[in-house]
Amino acid sequence: MQSIHHFQEAKAQSRKITVVTCYDYTSAQIIADSTLDVALVGDSAATVMHGYPDTTHATLDMMVMHTRAVAKGLKQKKFLIADMPFLSYRKSLDHSLNAVEALIQAGAQAVKLEGVRGNEQLIHHLVESGIPVMGHLGLTPQHIHGLGGLKVQGRVEGLQKQLLADAKSLESLGAFSLVLECIPAALAQTITQALLIPTIGIGAGHHTDGQVLVLQDLYGLSDCKAKFIKEFMPGKALCLDALERYAVEVIEQKYPSKEFAYE
Ligand code: KIV
Repeated sequence: MQSIHHFQEAKAQSRKITVVTCYDYTSAQIIADSTLDVALVGDSAATVMHGYPDTTHATLDMMVMHTRAVAKGLKQKKFLIADMPFLSYRKSLDHSLNAVEALIQAGAQAVKLEGVRGNEQLIHHLVESGIPVMGHLGLTPQHIHGLGGLKVQGRVEGLQKQLLADAKSLESLGAFSLVLECIPAALAQTITQALLIPTIGIGAGHHTDGQVLVLQDLYGLSDCKAKFIKEFMPGKALCLDALERYAVEVIEQKYPSKEFAYE
């Protein structure tokens, strides 16, 4: 998948869209060789790659650096979306456009930003400027303090109506797709059915048009054990095993053996 047209086509053909986060060149090379559709340089880079407690610590420099590395590894084989970091789209239109410019020039083909209220003018302006915009509703981690923590959203009726209205608003502003994070599956289904643009879920059940997972979570490398995370391999155990075997072979002088040495 290399262009935004595939998002619409996939929804029309009821074909699920597969997305993973990616922050580095090596992982991007693996994704490039896979059948996945999309790589997202999420602002979760702040937590996953830099060890910060939440995504409010992501900076534009950080996002640009990761986007550039991922773009090189993908070699244009996959569609690449980059997150706009905390407050980078809330200061002024000029400031936001500079941030978008930096991300697109680093290799992103689209940008994602959280929420819609107060972002209408920017989203419209970006779409009119030919920049594909992905929305992000439900649990919006950059609002961690305003939300009082990272919790499931949209459990009460009033909030459900608000989320549906926000999703429709994003669609009418020209967003090509939107992420629905940590909301009840039935609400995600309602929103998905009400929209022409595809929804990409994370912790939002299986009715969305696609799914996104943090790469380190699906590899089993992270300590995050949220209910929606499925580890598709025991990554941490495999890494520990490799490290232990390496250490033992070095200590026992089995590595490097002749085959790994220059004559
Ligand atoms: O930053 C991120 O990882 C994300 C996904 C959870 C969608 O925005």
